Amino acid sequence: MKRRTFHQFFVGLTLLGLCVGCGDRTDWSTRGPTAETFSVQVLLRGAAVYGDSCATCHGVDGSGAFGPDLRGKGHKYTYEEHRKIIERGRRSMPGFGASLTEEEIDAVLAHVRVGISEGFDE
Ligand code: HEC
Repeated sequence: MKRRTFHQFFVGLTLLGLCVGCGDRTDWSTRGPTAETFSVQVLLRGAAVYGDSCATCHGVDGSGAFGPDLRGKGHKYTYEEHRKIIERGRRSMPGFGASLTEEEIDAVLAHVRVGISEGFDE
């Protein structure tokens, strides 16, 4: 009986290991910025909004902390999909649709898609 419990414990552990590994394994961080272009003003505004609202969870450089690495994710999500995540949030990510203006969301998205990924190969 004891032996069986032990066995079940390991089966459980293996299943848990498989599930942890079932997430997104692509290393988006090496993909760099998208081909979109944004004005310098928008990017500067976006960097400021990012510093105020996002850096605590995603790191100052976007490489992740409590929240995931955001670099290169412009290649994973279309502009609209990406914007929706910021506007509505997802699971433990709060939505910013109520606390940021449309213009601030556009700017922070520009920063995430292009700003934090720029100069990446340096
Ligand atoms: C309270 C912490 C927190 C804050 C603040 C926060 N996020 Fe997040 N964010 C998360 C977490 C946690 C996830 C993962 C959500 C999930 O598992 O679905 C996430 C996911 C994301 C994703 C999807 C990433 C992916 O790889 O799928 C994007 C894009 C994103 N956040 C952008 C932002 C932006 C832009 C801001 C600032 C306006 C911000 N986040 C602020 C915690 C946060």
